[in-house]
Amino acid sequence: MSFRARHLLGIEHLSPDEIRAVLDLAERYVELNRRTVKSSDALAGMTQINMFFENSTRTQASFELAGKRLGADVMNMSVASSSVKKGETLIDTALTLNAMHPDLLVVRHPHSGAVNLLASKVNCAVLNAGDGRHEHPTQALLDALTIRRARGRIQRLTVAICGDIAHSRVARSNLILLGKMENRIRLIGPPTLMPAGVAEFGCEVFDDMREGLRGADVVMMLRLQKERMDGGFIPSEREYYHRYGLDAEKLAHAAPDAIVMHPGPMNRGVEIDGEIADDINRSVIQDQVEMGVAIRMACMDLLARNLRAERGARAIGAMV
Ligand code: CP
Repeated sequence: MSFRARHLLGIEHLSPDEIRAVLDLAERYVELNRRTVKSSDALAGMTQINMFFENSTRTQASFELAGKRLGADVMNMSVASSSVKKGETLIDTALTLNAMHPDLLVVRHPHSGAVNLLASKVNCAVLNAGDGRHEHPTQALLDALTIRRARGRIQRLTVAICGDIAHSRVARSNLILLGKMENRIRLIGPPTLMPAGVAEFGCEVFDDMREGLRGADVVMMLRLQKERMDGGFIPSEREYYHRYGLDAEKLAHAAPDAIVMHPGPMNRGVEIDGEIADDINRSVIQDQVEMGVAIRMACMDLLARNLRAERGARAIGAMV
């Protein structure tokens, strides 16, 4: 098996072969999820704990469904009513849960690097469900699966990522994944929403959206991450929509068969026109949500196999 990872903390740790292994297994889970009976026993007997220190609809729901469909015992920790509110630290919370012998810990946290730190303190497999501006690996994997199914490949495509790049973990994980798979990446947005050192990423950068979209195969729109902004990055949402909101006129500059993506949650009329978002001939936004469950099933299945192999090897080691 080409997937060797102990945890899923970021795309930066995965090889192209490991990425392909996740996508190929996820294809099988897409089929399972479309059946009436969606159950598998890949995680039977295992315990999965979801800890979300930041709000989520798609990621939390799909990790919960994924674990249940794979036969795990799934527990959603309610951070709002937990002892975190009494001042317990992330590490103490993790050590407390670790003592209950979970097998998989799914964590979203507002601080970049928090999930990596937590992974170094526990015995189970840790999956990063988004940490600050750092990474959102399962989002990039589900985006890759969506692109591969819609465009027939995940190499040699021109992908335009548009909007608030500076604050986006989705953009960062996608940049790394699409780069590893040898795609041409264009970043589009106002200079105030480009990360420092963007020139070193090896992508083309545009502040003119029409120019950046020219001939693109994939148009990936991003939300303004207001919760990570501490100042005025745009003059107004109205002005932003005028220059960077995806509408039919701007989309006409992309390839005629370009697909439109958005990780959600969307702000209609800010970064995307509602009609484009709902256009079933162009938008694959609902496919992204569907692929999210399959990708999370594949990731947890692969990590569980590695965990079982590691525990088996340790048990044999203890006997000799
Ligand atoms: N795309 C994404 O992470 O959405 P949620 O914040 O709803 O999980």
